[in-house]
Amino acid sequence: MCGIVGYTGKGLALSPVLEGLRRLEYRGYDSAGIALVVTKGAPLWIEKRAGKLGNLEEILGDAIPESHSGIGHTRWATHGGPTDDNAHPHLDNEGKLALIHNGIIENYVELRAELEKRGHTFKSETDTESVVHLLSDARKTHKGDLAAAMREVCGQLRGSFTLLAIHSDEPGRIVGSRRNSPLVVGVGEGENFLASDVSAFISHTKRALELGQDEVVDITASSIVVTDASGKVLPHREYEISWDASAAERGGYAHFMLKEIYEQPKAIADTLIGRTAGLDPEITAGIDLKGINKVVIIACGTAYHAGLVGKYAIEKWADISVDVELASEYRYREPSVDAQTLIIPISQSGETMDTLMAMRYARSHGARVFSVCNTNGSTIPRESDAVLYTHAGPEIAVASTKAFTAQLIAMYLLALHLGRVRGTLDSKIAHEIELELAELPAKVEQVLETVEPLRELTRKFKDSSSMLFLGRHVGFPTALEGALKLKELAYMHAEGFAGGELKHGPIALIDTGTPVIAIMPAVGTLLAEKMASNVQEVKARGAIIIAISDAPLASADHLIRIPSTHEFLQPILSVVPLQVIAYEMAIARGNDVDQPRNLAKSVTVE
Ligand code: M6R
Repeated sequence: MCGIVGYTGKGLALSPVLEGLRRLEYRGYDSAGIALVVTKGAPLWIEKRAGKLGNLEEILGDAIPESHSGIGHTRWATHGGPTDDNAHPHLDNEGKLALIHNGIIENYVELRAELEKRGHTFKSETDTESVVHLLSDARKTHKGDLAAAMREVCGQLRGSFTLLAIHSDEPGRIVGSRRNSPLVVGVGEGENFLASDVSAFISHTKRALELGQDEVVDITASSIVVTDASGKVLPHREYEISWDASAAERGGYAHFMLKEIYEQPKAIADTLIGRTAGLDPEITAGIDLKGINKVVIIACGTAYHAGLVGKYAIEKWADISVDVELASEYRYREPSVDAQTLIIPISQSGETMDTLMAMRYARSHGARVFSVCNTNGSTIPRESDAVLYTHAGPEIAVASTKAFTAQLIAMYLLALHLGRVRGTLDSKIAHEIELELAELPAKVEQVLETVEPLRELTRKFKDSSSMLFLGRHVGFPTALEGALKLKELAYMHAEGFAGGELKHGPIALIDTGTPVIAIMPAVGTLLAEKMASNVQEVKARGAIIIAISDAPLASADHLIRIPSTHEFLQPILSVVPLQVIAYEMAIARGNDVDQPRNLAKSVTVE
């Protein structure tokens, strides 16, 4: 949700702010805006436009204002539609203070009423605008100290936020704060940055600082001061960013999604590296894995599907009961959790608000948390007892691909680890699985070498009103993932079903010509025959069968062959053609692949 960037330094601010916005646009693209301090004490220079960043860039033309500090915002709309007026930055009534925001201010209605009574004039429908007026008043009370004003204002806000503010009386100073929403500092030479994530400034510096909950950061070109809510100065928590700018660029691919699909062999290999023979026992130090009596996986969207696959593996190899919960539903049910419950949040971004809140609920009830995450230093791993990082590298496309396969790998590694620690997994079987895991990068490579014909195949169904996905066992969550990819990219009705469940209702959806993608269980397994019967059932009712299988299938109208692997590992191979089909369908239907409508990459609101 919303990308935020701030620059202060010796260089001109517009270029790094625009570059940051370009890199953060995947977080939201309903509008974009920039505010710069050009002349001390004068109204700020500001431009903002509804729509994608390109609309803003068009009106900017070649004009480069002489400014050395500024902030920029790319929006995913929550309060107020995607209009020019609702675009950030928002200004105080003097036009000298500008604010950008990611998150939701839950008490904005009462704040706004109070501020209007005090004479403030509002120009937008956003929750954010209340904060800029509050900050303007607080700054006066604090005799022009923007950081002190920010601390006071944060104490009055309910909800989640990352805030960045500048004031034209103080050129070169940017003040930020965060609660339940991401903000990192980029530490440069004679320049410093603030941003929603490190990709915004990765081409300028690889040094970053973490910011904790309710901390306020005050930067100039040569200083960084972090304080807690009471104003106490805190030590810096600096870390080195482990990837470089090229990882966040398209590198010759037409879209980030395509690049990320092709990066999967590496993402899998990097996530496996040094771990196939077992996880470092240090990784779970402090968690008594033998003493747990239940595992609860919490996640959203694609990560939830990875969790569903994880359930099959953990229950089988570690012989422990696993619930997989949609994070957005979990805490509101007030489920029973105790110290014997192991919570596994799965998140690519590490910032998904639903997952974070569900995890906090479980922690507050005594559960231990072992998270799976792709983003170093993000909030979810920071608040976990233990973390298993996936090493997929930065994922920019809104539709998750390489993060998903890396999450699957993490779930297999975790299941093996639990099985070993708990003594429930035969060492010979564990060894066989480890060998199969090690072969996966090459097998995914093999799948990628054969996806070319999928373009033509996909085009055949471009005008279909619906596509159904069937699977059994670990093929069922794979079917759900295939349907999700198609929905978010092709804007097409798509649903995933468990093969055996069809006859209990969904088979009524099948009509002559309905395309059905069948994810066939590994040949020779118990469910392969059952699934073959389910396929016959839909075929008999007129469906066109596109089968993903490691063996020939007579009933398939179109067969996508994948290599054989261990039956639990098959989703890693079968999901790849599904990703390619969704990608090709988006293109065939003229959709924006990397920035599908209404979506944003990192969902930092509930
Ligand atoms: O960053 P997270 O893994 O926590 O994100 C969870 C979901 O929002 C995410 O997987 C979403 O479903 C993807 N856009 C799907 O492609």
